[in-house]
Amino acid sequence: MTDTRTITPSTHLRGEITVPGDKSISHRAIMFASLARGKSRIRGLLRGEDCLSTLAAFQQMGVRVEEFDNGDLMITGQGLNGLQEPTDVLDCGNSGTTMRLMSGILAGQPFFSVLSGDQYLRRRPMGRVIEPLSQMGAKISGRDTHRKAPFAISGGHLQPATYHSPVASAQVKSAILLAGMQVDGVTTVYEPHLSRDHSERMLRYFGAQVESFSGGAAIHGRVELTAQDVDIPGDISSAAFFLVAGLIVPDSELLLKNVGINPTRSGILDILTAMGGDIQQLNTREVSGEPVADLLVRSSTLKGIDIGGELVPRAIDEFPVISIAAAYATGITTISDAGELRVKETDRIAAMCDALQALGAQVTPLDDGMKIVGGTPLNGATINSCGDHRIAMSIAIAALGASGDTTIVDTSCTETSFPGFWPLLNRITTKTESS
Ligand code: S3P
Repeated sequence: MTDTRTITPSTHLRGEITVPGDKSISHRAIMFASLARGKSRIRGLLRGEDCLSTLAAFQQMGVRVEEFDNGDLMITGQGLNGLQEPTDVLDCGNSGTTMRLMSGILAGQPFFSVLSGDQYLRRRPMGRVIEPLSQMGAKISGRDTHRKAPFAISGGHLQPATYHSPVASAQVKSAILLAGMQVDGVTTVYEPHLSRDHSERMLRYFGAQVESFSGGAAIHGRVELTAQDVDIPGDISSAAFFLVAGLIVPDSELLLKNVGINPTRSGILDILTAMGGDIQQLNTREVSGEPVADLLVRSSTLKGIDIGGELVPRAIDEFPVISIAAAYATGITTISDAGELRVKETDRIAAMCDALQALGAQVTPLDDGMKIVGGTPLNGATINSCGDHRIAMSIAIAALGASGDTTIVDTSCTETSFPGFWPLLNRITTKTESS
């Protein structure tokens, strides 16, 4: 049976919270530790379903993983040539990052593998990695003329490449860099706007020769990775729900501890600050090659703004909850250049416009974004999450400031990226209930 949650409006929010580990960094820590030589200890790994899919895939290829009582993992890496051919399909679940980054790794491995995933992932575009990896010499065939999963890879015998990606996508960039890592020569990826650079940072941290420059990144192939201990910060994409909650619910103050604030991910801070949000960065520091801070958020009067261009990839996963902030702001917010939202876990433009309309907000979908006329009081409603974790959590945040209860249908999807979201929400709110 589909699970539901009912959220009651909250009069104020208070507390100090820690959000789970960063999803993007967790995937990469598992992958690069598996490909390194030696033992890497990973602290703060996100135990969300997406990252567990990545972990299971590497275990299927012979990587040894030990778990400590405190939740740390010790991964014994196999080196660039040490993976074994998997004896079954690698199930990427709901995770685009698992599927696309693994494709880059498997393209360089001299064996046969098949990647598949859940009903949502099997609908998402994979031609964006299959095409360039095929150009590099991998033999890949898949459903829908090699554009969708399941697809099969016969890897090895790659050539280095220079690739101009039509989309600002860290998954595409990373897949090509990871393929390039396994061949002699330099592989270069150019992208229209800078996407998140966790791969470049962590590959360097593990000893790879990677250069970042404005417009892209390059990797020198066949440099072995050396095991490293990695501390994973809290996920700014998960923190985003509580940042918006703290801003829109009156009389609120929340301290979010240990959040990653990598500039390629911190568009949400720029956007909410430009909307008038009171967010302070405290105790900024660097951990395992990534910038980290504590974030203090207080209720604020928000105003609508225009969002587009280079800000979009820097906040790509936050648009569902940004649209909630916009509905509570005065004036108009226009989101453009964000057509990528249509090919996320679900079509997030359609899903958020439907959800906001159900709550009574004034919102119009655009081909590449949406227009929100803020300030209309929202009323509780019953809304389906469409099986998308970020849609479910965004609706929950919207519900905190609405009149009357909101029932969210299909809520277990939050396990994808944010195990413990519902109890945490319950802890900081005054009157939230779940059923
Ligand atoms: C991710 C990149 C982004 C993002 C996704 C995680 C990553 O996807 O939306 O949640 O870890 O590299 P795209 O590369 O498709 O933009």
